[in-house]
Amino acid sequence: MTIEHLSPVWTHLTDMQPERGEGIYLYDADGTRYTDFTCGIGVTNTGHCHPKVVKAIQEQAGKLIFGQMNIVIPPTAVSLANTLNEVTPDAIDSFFFSNSGAEAVEAAVKLAKHATGKSNVIVFQGSFHGRTAQTMAMTTSKTIYRHNYQPLPAGVFVAPFPYSYFYGWDEEETVAFCLKQLELLLKGQSAVEETAVFVIEPVLGEGGYVPAPAAFLQELRAIADKYGILLAVDEVQSGFGRTGKLFGFEHAGIEPDIIIMAKGLGSGVPISGIASRRELMDKWIPGTHGGTYGGGSMIATAAAKATIDVIREEKLVENAAAMGDYLITKLRGLQKKHPVMGDVRGQGLMVGVEFTGADGEADPVTAKAVAQSCLAQNLLLLTCGSYGNVIRWIPPLIVTQAQLDDALAIFATALREN
Ligand SMILES: Cc1ncc(COP(=O)(O)O)c(C=O)c1O
Repeated sequence: MTIEHLSPVWTHLTDMQPERGEGIYLYDADGTRYTDFTCGIGVTNTGHCHPKVVKAIQEQAGKLIFGQMNIVIPPTAVSLANTLNEVTPDAIDSFFFSNSGAEAVEAAVKLAKHATGKSNVIVFQGSFHGRTAQTMAMTTSKTIYRHNYQPLPAGVFVAPFPYSYFYGWDEEETVAFCLKQLELLLKGQSAVEETAVFVIEPVLGEGGYVPAPAAFLQELRAIADKYGILLAVDEVQSGFGRTGKLFGFEHAGIEPDIIIMAKGLGSGVPISGIASRRELMDKWIPGTHGGTYGGGSMIATAAAKATIDVIREEKLVENAAAMGDYLITKLRGLQKKHPVMGDVRGQGLMVGVEFTGADGEADPVTAKAVAQSCLAQNLLLLTCGSYGNVIRWIPPLIVTQAQLDDALAIFATALREN
């Protein structure tokens, strides 16, 4: 179909128009099959159209589609909150729902401001937090996301993210540098008395698929406690099993004050939310936040509950951990033959391959060309990173070793071609 009536503001990886999806595959109207290792940017963790999620949506649609949260108490939202309570740390026991990741980040910032009475937010270089005004101000992964939108909300400060490969240092040295810079920021720009919250992606997503070292997150937790600053983790992309744990912060053995969630929560139905302690949520003055749809779409909350059930019943977190290890091992094997693969890193099935030229500079040209060659072989892979030189692997968490092998064979061919 002609796309002249779609706004050109949307970019597209491919002009393929999918008609249906099943598991790791998308099919166009001609029945041509594509392997979707983008997961719609980390959304369809349970695969396309998981039968249990589809059933939950269909059954709920036949009963009640919408129960507005300020008017009634939708039981599917209560059930989802109860289920999330089972899978989040014990101290986290209160949940607020919204629709998109950006909305959930905004909610986290608003909660943090009310709970602390402070105004400032500290984020980390390379983060992506969304496209609303507040979240644009918090996003530093690429300038395109802020292009011509200044002035953006004030009170946002940016500290370095512990990205060892970028700095060219070992992990210990990088962590020490970033912590020192953070302390400097608290002395020179955003006083601890004015800083409400640190917001960090446990694995930098758009910014290049870089896991934050455990030592950094542990120290960040300690600094937050020392100064009475809240710690919010943006698990929009890293959550719901993606990293081989249900949430990325679990790798560091820390407990955040606020968990921001979206994408993988709904298997493709728009839903997001934040989780925190009741004691903090009690400081969020009733009526100071909300929205027409948040928590009220009974289809979305039913789909999210079914998604968590599937993740638990089918042991998708464990599968992500095992398949992620396999994928990284295989990619490191390819790296030996292709030095342009400067770094292979990740946790679980959130894996990045960073392309670096012989001169040591970022190589977005080869990254893009390899992704294009994969696309020509019907394998969908996205790039990321501030320089666009990282190919990110985000397969559905249901992926099998044989399916990874098929994709790796395509990737190997693409590497040889470029
Ligand atoms: C870590 C992270 N936070 C927030 C967002 C924004 O989510 P949304 O696009 O649903 O607003 C994204 C989207 O890619 C993300 O990856």
